[in-house]
Amino acid sequence: MNATVPIVWLSGRFLPLADAAISPLDRGFLFADAVYEVIPVYAGRPFLFKEHLARLDRSLNAIGMPMPMATNDWADVIRTLVDKNKISDGMVYLHVSRGADVIRNHAINERLSPTIFLMTSALAPMDPTIQQQGVAALTLPDQRWARCDIKSTSLLPNILAKSTAARAQALEAILLDNGLLREGSSSSVLMAKDNVLWAPPYTPEILPGTTRDLMLRLAGELNITVTIAPITEHALRHADEIMLCFATRGVLPVTQLDGQPIGSGVPGPLWQHLYSAFDAYRQRIAHTAFNT
Ligand SMILES: Cc1ncc(COP(=O)(O)O)c(C=O)c1O
Repeated sequence: MNATVPIVWLSGRFLPLADAAISPLDRGFLFADAVYEVIPVYAGRPFLFKEHLARLDRSLNAIGMPMPMATNDWADVIRTLVDKNKISDGMVYLHVSRGADVIRNHAINERLSPTIFLMTSALAPMDPTIQQQGVAALTLPDQRWARCDIKSTSLLPNILAKSTAARAQALEAILLDNGLLREGSSSSVLMAKDNVLWAPPYTPEILPGTTRDLMLRLAGELNITVTIAPITEHALRHADEIMLCFATRGVLPVTQLDGQPIGSGVPGPLWQHLYSAFDAYRQRIAHTAFNT
């Protein structure tokens, strides 16, 4: 198979991306009636596979859809897709929509078969200047709905926020509501103050992040004190460190918020400890067998 032609998996078949077609009446296309996952791949091995499938299950459950495939079948499809596309470091995008109806109808037709789509992409290694300098973020009001704990493909407010940040030369939009930190437009946000790592509690307005959960676990192993508590905008602006956690990039240090330096304005020690622990963990896991 030619690795330059991306191969995708669509509802039961591996096929070239150019041949993958869905109905315009697919509810994912018409209503964003769909949920998704992005699973990192390191050294050709899916990373935190069980955690991503558990979150998929949670999202499906929240929108009243059953899990459409068994864990072993997901694993087989993902493994084969990663092999066919010769992905070493990259990601698998996995999307489950409620399926295509015969008319456009808001009310759910329970008899539809889900549309399942998976594709892979390679990811370039982290730019070393990010490690040296950190990234900029922009705060914006959270304009999303009340169930951001569901990983829905309905991402209009997220993409608008991300684009506003990009226009301001910031990598991420950090979303605030009522003077409190929620999360990034596509990331979880952690804060460090006086050697304590802070994370906001999970509420229906925040997506449970697989990378954040891993970072908090690694922080525990490093004997870093972790506090799960609401983080005010004031505390965020006066943090020693801010970090973004996402599956595709791991953990990134934010060194500028709304154009102002955070802490000393360079990546801080807690980020460095967590990043080293994450990198070591990732390398250790990448060379073990992929068991489901
Ligand atoms: C809104 C939002 N929050 C948090 C995350 C981080 O989740 P994960 O670490 O599982 O990628 C994402 C990832 O896409 C996201 O879109």
